[in-house]
Amino acid sequence: MEAINRIFADRHFSFFLALLLLASTMSLAIAKTHHHEFVVQATKVKRLCKTHNSITVNGMLPGPTLEVNDGDTLVVKVVNRARYNVTIHWHGVRQMRTGWADGPEFVTQCPIRPGGSYTYRFTIQGQVGTLWWHAHSSWVRATVYGALIIRPREGSSYPFSKQPKRETPIILGEWWDGNPIDVVREATRTGAAPNISDAYTINGQPGDLYNCSSKDTTIVPIDSGETNLLRVINAALNQPLFFTVANHKFTVVGADASYLKPFTTSVIVLGPGQTTDVLISGDQLPGRYYMAARAYQSAQNAPFDNTTTTAILEYKSALCPVKCTSKPFMPPLPAYNDTATVTAFSGSLKSPRKVEVPTDIDENLFFTVGLGLNNCPKNFRARRCQGPNGTRFTASMNNVSFVFPSSISLLQAYQQNVPGVFTTDFPAKPPVKFDYTGNVSRSLFQPVPATKLYKLKYGSRVQIVLQDTSIVTPENHPIHLHGYDFYIIAEGFGNFNPKTDKSKFNLVDPPLRNTVGVPVNGWAVIRFVADNPGVWIMHCHLDVHITWGLAMAFLVEDGIGELESLESPPVDLPPPPHDKQNKHHQSFCPRFGSPICHLVAFGFIDVLNVPFEINYKMAMRTSRFPDILIASVKASGSSRPRKKNIAALEEK
Ligand code: C2O
Repeated sequence: MEAINRIFADRHFSFFLALLLLASTMSLAIAKTHHHEFVVQATKVKRLCKTHNSITVNGMLPGPTLEVNDGDTLVVKVVNRARYNVTIHWHGVRQMRTGWADGPEFVTQCPIRPGGSYTYRFTIQGQVGTLWWHAHSSWVRATVYGALIIRPREGSSYPFSKQPKRETPIILGEWWDGNPIDVVREATRTGAAPNISDAYTINGQPGDLYNCSSKDTTIVPIDSGETNLLRVINAALNQPLFFTVANHKFTVVGADASYLKPFTTSVIVLGPGQTTDVLISGDQLPGRYYMAARAYQSAQNAPFDNTTTTAILEYKSALCPVKCTSKPFMPPLPAYNDTATVTAFSGSLKSPRKVEVPTDIDENLFFTVGLGLNNCPKNFRARRCQGPNGTRFTASMNNVSFVFPSSISLLQAYQQNVPGVFTTDFPAKPPVKFDYTGNVSRSLFQPVPATKLYKLKYGSRVQIVLQDTSIVTPENHPIHLHGYDFYIIAEGFGNFNPKTDKSKFNLVDPPLRNTVGVPVNGWAVIRFVADNPGVWIMHCHLDVHITWGLAMAFLVEDGIGELESLESPPVDLPPPPHDKQNKHHQSFCPRFGSPICHLVAFGFIDVLNVPFEINYKMAMRTSRFPDILIASVKASGSSRPRKKNIAALEEK
């Protein structure tokens, strides 16, 4: 009897073992971990007849495309070999509990300084489609960006009637024939609007309509009869763009890594930050057809880049001379100010089926979004006030112009209880009511600069009315929320009216997105559940507007238990640049008697934290000089600060 029992037990055990094995191999098949290294570095890049020393990732422009399945984990080590501070943001990734990997500079992390590195670790959960990644520090993202492709979990397929044969990322970019960092620095100095760009690009190439560009025009292959998936990303800095292909129709199937109810259109529009997945069929005569993108410009009388970027959709079966010599067909594009097309497009976006839109709202918020003008400060010379009528441009939400901290990130300050970095009194509604889209009095043009956050209890159901203002100029603002997707339940023009506009709310099948184009001179209503603890910035994705302060941040508190709480910070989180507690700073600085040391006394030397190389360039930051090179140092050693490294500095 005992023997039988034992056999039974053994069987039981081996069955259990087999089950365990099966489960582990299954989970291996289902979720993978992808390791990547991103080396941020200056790279010679030739566009528009001139070669520039552009900041790239791994020498590529656009940077590497990341491909994962839903449920996978990404581990990306970012090594900064450039002369600028850098961070990488994984635009649209929910980052559940992993706010430390979100990336916005001084929001969830301090910048990775020249010579430093940081490893981003996060898991994609319940998102399928196209997202992207980009630098989130100054204007480095002009050249530091790339696609993030998320396919369905292994074993499942797209819910489209036709499975695509081929998938092509179409990344729309914006190019300055100069250093984009200098462009924004100049604007910050003068207070005027930054220079407009010189070109738009498709997958890094301006295309046939620009000088010295046609031999590098992007070619997108297609076969007769096949259906392809185009993953369109607007990575431009400051411009919403129309995108179309000659003679072909798009079937829109997704946006911002959520599926949509399919519909057909010949033109799509994307604000910076937004993505749109479209199917395209090879149902035309074998030949060559232009794909083209150009500006949607809603701010009247503001200068903008009115050029057109092109790529070529090329049928593989096309023969010479069609393929070799003839000019591709050029599609018509909407007029620059064609708001009607934009409205029709965004009105067509619906979730594929009924969704669970939060009701019983806990937080009813009303945020104005718009520009402003600061009067010239008394101690400023005229050349620093070159905005309209001797002012300086600014921007705000609810009359608060967001000021980023410069000594520690908001998330670190929150987690470590560092006082004096931010307050949590961001207003739930504008401090004064006015006719937002009417003729606004000059007295309402000057917002208050501050670092104000809005606190949300874990799990609260949030509604935000985003209201454009006509201060300086009305404009379509692509408002992006980090750490969340939200339902866009309604959009409209004029001032939002809580009494009458509720009837427009779509609580059945609204689209789920991470960036909403708030209509020019209008409003949009979004809803989400605050189920991701951390500090999450919400900002206009026109970089020029972030620079001016069109941002705010939510502080979402932990819920109950580990699964509703922010993870602890990674050990390699970049250290605060001006940290007075920093022991390298404290213990080594007083030893210097050289001029370098004087600088060190109120700055910070990056070289202390990096694996040394011979002839390392030492970068120094101070509150007055954001990043300047002060010396070349001959040094070597480990990443630990050691006295021998310091000695090398002293020699210089
Ligand atoms: Cu794609 Cu905060 O941005």
